[in-house]
Amino acid sequence: MVLTLLKAKPERKLAKQICKVVLDHFEKQYSKELGDAWNTVRDILTSPSCWQYAVLLNRFNYPFELEKNLHLKGYHSLFQGSLPYYPQSMKCYLSRTPHRMPSERHQVGNLKQYYLLNAASLLPVLALELRDGEKVLDLCAAPGGKSLALLQCAYPGYLHCNEYDSLRLRWLRQTLESFIPQPLVNVIKVSELDGREMGNAQPETFDKVLVDAPCSNDRSWLFSSDSQKAACRISQRRNLPLLQIELLRSAIKALRPGGLLVYSTCTLSKAENQDVISEVLNSYSNIMPVDIKEMARACSHDFTFAPTGQECGLLVIPDKGKAWGPMYFAKLKKSWTT
Ligand SMILES: C[S@@+](CC[C@H](N)C(=O)[O-])C[C@H]1O[C@@H](n2cnc3c(N)ncnc32)[C@H](O)[C@@H]1O
Repeated sequence: MVLTLLKAKPERKLAKQICKVVLDHFEKQYSKELGDAWNTVRDILTSPSCWQYAVLLNRFNYPFELEKNLHLKGYHSLFQGSLPYYPQSMKCYLSRTPHRMPSERHQVGNLKQYYLLNAASLLPVLALELRDGEKVLDLCAAPGGKSLALLQCAYPGYLHCNEYDSLRLRWLRQTLESFIPQPLVNVIKVSELDGREMGNAQPETFDKVLVDAPCSNDRSWLFSSDSQKAACRISQRRNLPLLQIELLRSAIKALRPGGLLVYSTCTLSKAENQDVISEVLNSYSNIMPVDIKEMARACSHDFTFAPTGQECGLLVIPDKGKAWGPMYFAKLKKSWTT
């Protein structure tokens, strides 16, 4: 059955068109921010045929047969126990070549067995170090990839997934229902709030908070089909750091003293990454940076990191054979004293 799945669909050719306005804009900004590394990053971002897709196996309907086939196809297990925190229940496979598994169809009554993702998306989730029984908030959750990854790590006592956009909220519900058994779905709270209101709605409630913020999303923006809209987004882009800071403020309020928060984006932009975190660290005396350099050392075999100038923030940049990212993530802790 799994073998049929693997062979069922021939790989589709990606006929994506690069949006020149966006590429020119990136060229100016990122050649300054990343220096020579930008040349490689640009080559990968503009060549969808080099993109890689990791396979996250679903612990709730474990595909043993598929796992064997992935080994045969040359996939290897991500992290392989090298990280300081790595739950055995999370199994993710990747290949050094750009092979893409077909996506699974939703079948009523059957949980999906695997989820395709950019492997760098797992790093912010792992940085949260989720333990069984903890209360966790995923503030910007749709389409649900990171919520799903969180549930592969541990059984939270309470998981609250929030998403502001109602269409994307439906997508989030669908992801949860396709991968998570009903009894567990029933204890996941899904809400449609503006994340900026969550802190006031549920102050000091959560042990762990993930803020996977709305951002420039470089990879997909580069392939915008409407160049007028893309140009408009260039000017609106300036407003993103303010929204990101407001979401972080709300998340900090929702976090209990002693709790951990991870902020992440899928852009290379310093203004939406390091600058947002510096602004927050400078304005709160009870928010501490958590050193995550060890994480970068432990997984440098699979990911390439660009310097961020921060001990609490890592930036994964796409590289040859490691086409993961862009993904920035930073880890913060709320202290007991104010
Ligand atoms: C990067 S995406 C999240 C991806 C998701 N965490 C995952 O791994 O599948 C950011 C999400 O934030 C949502 N969003 C935008 N503004 C928001 C707000 N004010 N409050 C909450 N969510 C918001 C967007 O609709 C988008 O779905």
